[in-house]
Amino acid sequence: MRRDELGMLIDTANRYGDVVRFEFGPRLVHFPTYLVRRPEHIHHVLFEARDAYPKSFDYKLLARTLGQGLVTSEGALWMRQRRLIQPAFRHSQILAFADPMIAASLEVSERWNQLAADGAPVDVAAEMMHLALDIVGRTLFSSDLADEAEKVSQAVGLLVRQLVERMSSAVGFLTLLVPGLPTPANRRAEKALRTLDDVVARLIARRRTLPESERPHDLLSMLLAARDEETGETMDDRQVRDEVMTFLIAGHETTANALAWTWYLLSTHPLVARQLHDELRSVLAGREVVVEDLEKLIYTKAVLQEAMRLFPPVSMISREARQADEIGGYSIPARSTVLISPWVTHRNPEIWRAPEGFDPERFLPGAPEHPRLAYLPFGAGPRQCIGSGFAMQEALIALAVLAARFQPALAPGHRVEPQLGVTLRPRHGLPMTIHEAR
Ligand code: HEM
Repeated sequence: MRRDELGMLIDTANRYGDVVRFEFGPRLVHFPTYLVRRPEHIHHVLFEARDAYPKSFDYKLLARTLGQGLVTSEGALWMRQRRLIQPAFRHSQILAFADPMIAASLEVSERWNQLAADGAPVDVAAEMMHLALDIVGRTLFSSDLADEAEKVSQAVGLLVRQLVERMSSAVGFLTLLVPGLPTPANRRAEKALRTLDDVVARLIARRRTLPESERPHDLLSMLLAARDEETGETMDDRQVRDEVMTFLIAGHETTANALAWTWYLLSTHPLVARQLHDELRSVLAGREVVVEDLEKLIYTKAVLQEAMRLFPPVSMISREARQADEIGGYSIPARSTVLISPWVTHRNPEIWRAPEGFDPERFLPGAPEHPRLAYLPFGAGPRQCIGSGFAMQEALIALAVLAARFQPALAPGHRVEPQLGVTLRPRHGLPMTIHEAR
């Protein structure tokens, strides 16, 4: 498992079937873990019996950084917050974010022009991380962040890296459990968190002094204006801070990895890349992307969906059984962890023909349907991703803007290996050279 966790998960599911029991670590510390992959079992955990399956222990660790925002909260607090925030992610609101998304992608395009001329390799995974954080910054805070963007970006980067490292090593895990320990890593994390808290508190305070009519159109204004329809309640500063932190972190790392894997797959599948360039050429006819183009980018969207099938940015969704239960005839003891893995489910050979192949045609209109819960990059049920429309629009824009001009090629000899952490990322980055699209 230590050598190849992702391969082991697929092999085990293929060998032992739809419900697999694991024992991780010493028995006294860990309750058993069950991996389930059948659509009806996933339906049981995320829909039918969802109240008996709250989020597992990992999310409590995440809460150290994210506070009680939408990703980590439970029960009445989560329900109230979801109701308050949902309107900010309506389709019409997201469309209004297309312009900052296009502007940020065009800045990368400028940089890539230079890189294409120099022929120097660049880490495309890091480029996408930078782009996605820039976009989340612009859509959350408009231009208010301009002076502090670099500071925020460094602090968020450090926190995400630490979360990834700690959640994938036993020692790191322990330091997360005891956050007060004055280890150098904890001190760095606390400093980064303080920096972010200061910036966010200042932005909230500054925004509150403006009358609602003068506030810029962004997620922060929406959070401050959100009012519960029934009670008229608004969020206090602490809650706004937790939601901002949640969007900053949940909203960039995931989309960035979706894009990074897409570039990797395009560089290894030239026929798909050709078809993508053909669509972009015919829809854009040499001009910049505008919001009206998005619904016409049918193949571009299918490329992203298929990339997220093979490399789902969130590869593990975990829950804890509140009480004893039964799934598919197997008994699930109380307090065990139940894992739903988009990574495993998306490669289930009983559902997907040639599951390891990269074939965007699967997602084109008219392609044979797959069962609904055989594909769940954004999760499912009441806790499914609130940002899925935002993320798809962002990824579509970034891919269209950049692939219309460029065709990155993987540096020769570089071994690409997916690493399972909070998200699925290329372990050694993605060094690529940038070329003009032909
Ligand atoms: C390709 C990009 C993305 C992927 C693959 C993704 C995936 C997911 C998944 C699988 C969940 C459910 C986790 C669970 O049930 O345990 C989730 C929840 C969530 N995501 Fe995303 N996400 C993406 C982008 C975003 C963006 C851009 C935002 C915000 C701007 C966002 C905000 C959230 C929030 C707030 C939740 C918690 C929702 C709730 O429990 O009510 N995500 N995401």
